[in-house]
Amino acid sequence: MKAMTRSSDLFAQARQLIPGGVNSPVRAFGSVGGTPLFIDSAQGSHLRDVDGNDYVDLVSSWGPMLHGNAHPAIVDAVRSAAAKGLSFGAPTAAENALAAEIISRTSVEEVRMVNSGTEATMSAVRLARGVTGRSTVLKFAGCYHGHVDSLLVSAGSGVATFGVPDSPGVTQSDTIVVPYNDLDAVREACEQHSDDIACIITEAAAGNMGTVAPAEGFNAALRDIAHEYGALLILDEVMTGFRTSYQGWYGVDGVVGDLVTFGKVVSGGLPAAAFGGRRDLMAYLAPEGPVYQAGTLSGNPVAMAAGLASLRLADDECYATLRTNADRLAGLLHEALDREGVAHHIQRAATFLSVRFADGEGHNFVDMRAADTFRYAPFFHALLDNGVYTAPSAFETWFVSTALTDEDFSRIESALRPAAKAAAAATKEG
Ligand SMILES: Cc1ncc(COP(=O)(O)O)c(C=O)c1O
Repeated sequence: MKAMTRSSDLFAQARQLIPGGVNSPVRAFGSVGGTPLFIDSAQGSHLRDVDGNDYVDLVSSWGPMLHGNAHPAIVDAVRSAAAKGLSFGAPTAAENALAAEIISRTSVEEVRMVNSGTEATMSAVRLARGVTGRSTVLKFAGCYHGHVDSLLVSAGSGVATFGVPDSPGVTQSDTIVVPYNDLDAVREACEQHSDDIACIITEAAAGNMGTVAPAEGFNAALRDIAHEYGALLILDEVMTGFRTSYQGWYGVDGVVGDLVTFGKVVSGGLPAAAFGGRRDLMAYLAPEGPVYQAGTLSGNPVAMAAGLASLRLADDECYATLRTNADRLAGLLHEALDREGVAHHIQRAATFLSVRFADGEGHNFVDMRAADTFRYAPFFHALLDNGVYTAPSAFETWFVSTALTDEDFSRIESALRPAAKAAAAATKEG
């Protein structure tokens, strides 16, 4: 067991000051137990907590840290931008540069900057409602799109982790939820609500119920069905964007969303995100059109500089390294769990992966919940005790960075031995 005195003290203090002691629920280690690490610093592929413990980082701040922590080029860009002023509330050239970079890589023709993935999906839904004059949103069980009321129904990520089926106070009448990867259910729902559906929103590849890849042709079929019923398709690339390929998931299946949301990597690790789409749709946004959407800090110059530096580093070589690292991690996970006879499937979607503790691939939220998720907490803690930091929940994707070294993989391999044993020994009762 690593010493966690300072983290424990800080968590006790935080619980008096901040609800649950954290500013985002899954950080509280609720589903795995124990004390969350309070981080002091991070460099490359490593995190250091306030007790001086060192960890190989397989969370990557839940996605943004594609190039590892505190990459010098990104830190330099932030420093230079900050020295020129932190926020102006007026246009800057940096916003054009980041918008141009996003547009050049994806299907979107125009893009608007916001401050978080939640804001991006919220704004995209608002725009879809404004364009269509309809209010109903069709989403998929297990997909998470941020803490937007209409999208917090049967959501993944922390909502799944804490077993909260729907957020209290959310009216469900405007949201239809259907199983992921089930086109018949989508068609049936569209038929039933044919005049009401403003948009179908989906994670371009699902990463918030663990990793679940869309079936071949799924996203393309969603687009066709949406259009058949006069609705828009919103592809949520907040997690997949510029992480699964140079072009995001668009580079994997080539499906053009009417609206597309971006976050995480696009921010370089600062609070920034974006949504974009066809020019005629984006023209509905104020000040060009009637759909009001705004933000005091939107397009913040320091965040734009970080995002641009991060994307400029994200070249073909970067994605080749990411794929190699994801394959290597998947191989080590499989080997270790196989050795201990633990039923498992390594869920994959390009550079995304997660472990499903059951035989066979999971295709939807029901499959992912039906796995032996009780094995995850002891597995997680054994990894942590042996210097490897992974997501504190079975319903999250593992994020590799390009900064992982051979030494890191040796540490991961060693840590996986006791972790796989702990997973094998786990029982449902704990
Ligand atoms: C697919 C997806 N959409 C939206 C969000 C919300 O982004 P943020 O946490 O930046 O608000 C997330 C966050 O994990 C996400 O994974």
